[in-house]
Amino acid sequence: MLPELETIQQEGLDSLGKLQNEVELENWRIMYLGRSSQLMGVFDQLGTLPKEERPQIGRRANQIKQELEAAFQQKSEALRLVSIERSLLADRLDVTLPGRSPTHGRLHPATQTLRLLYRIFAEMGFQIYLSREVETDELNFQLLNFPPYHPAREMQDTFFVKSKVDRGDNPLLMRTHTSPGQIRAMREYTARNPKDPPPVRIITPGMCYRYEQVTARAEMQFNQIEGLAVGHDITFGDLKGTLSDFARRMFGQNVRSRFRASHFPFTEPSAEMDIECFVCRGEGCSVCKRTGWLEILGCGMVHPVVLENGGYDPERFTGFAFGVGPERIAMLRHRINDIRNFWANDMRFLEQF
Ligand code: DAH
Repeated sequence: MLPELETIQQEGLDSLGKLQNEVELENWRIMYLGRSSQLMGVFDQLGTLPKEERPQIGRRANQIKQELEAAFQQKSEALRLVSIERSLLADRLDVTLPGRSPTHGRLHPATQTLRLLYRIFAEMGFQIYLSREVETDELNFQLLNFPPYHPAREMQDTFFVKSKVDRGDNPLLMRTHTSPGQIRAMREYTARNPKDPPPVRIITPGMCYRYEQVTARAEMQFNQIEGLAVGHDITFGDLKGTLSDFARRMFGQNVRSRFRASHFPFTEPSAEMDIECFVCRGEGCSVCKRTGWLEILGCGMVHPVVLENGGYDPERFTGFAFGVGPERIAMLRHRINDIRNFWANDMRFLEQF
């Protein structure tokens, strides 16, 4: 009887491996473990066996029963998983389910403002000129009329970049403003035709970095847009005309602007431009801190030394420049009261734009 048992086990396990579904599995169970299966027949016959054989056959029959039952459980679980997977696949094709709505990406509020500025200045004939974010001290400061140790540097706390060689008074740094783009652009233009260099009408947008204590009003990274116009007979009148027109295009046809004297080492004379507060129309409110005016940019006539550093003869050429902070403009337009929102990556903030 022992060889018979081994055959039952062998065939049982072999055929179990080939089963494809739960119906076949149930048939298998009846055939190998059911009441009238061969294996159960062995148990029935035990009593008719010689006494000495009974324990051995009985033990082996029990082992095989347990093994077949365990294999059955395993197979049953495997088939169950397959059928779950199939039904999930089928669900995916359920055309009656509502579709999953895709989430739309959108532009960052700073990018939106940058693009608005690009459009306005493009309409006025300014090209975009991209300059680098890692600069030399020379470009970021010295050629813009901030000599080493000049106190005006104190306005621009600076991140210096370590370099392998000692660069002395000309270390590498993260640009603190977009103004070094003025020098790069002028040099590129004068290289094209040193004797009679072409006029410049550019804006240079991009990130600037300052080693600032971060507060609601100051970030250590922010965008700027620098503007530069160089040519023959450019006057302060051109500067005022261009920037007042910019303000009207940006904030509305009736917005008034004013220029206040200021100081920047790279412009002479220098000014800051305010627009009439568009919240209170000049009456005085919390947005304009009761002054009726909002400061929006710095500007001035390009300093002769800076023109010369760019390769333009200050006897023959004049120019104006300005620097705008797009985040500041966005803050004014959308009444955002904390500049840290721009780079905190909080979706609740970003999704509002
Ligand atoms: N570079 C100045 C700053 O970051 C901003 C500025 C002021 C730029 C006057 C100009 C300008 O071109 O004419 O503080």
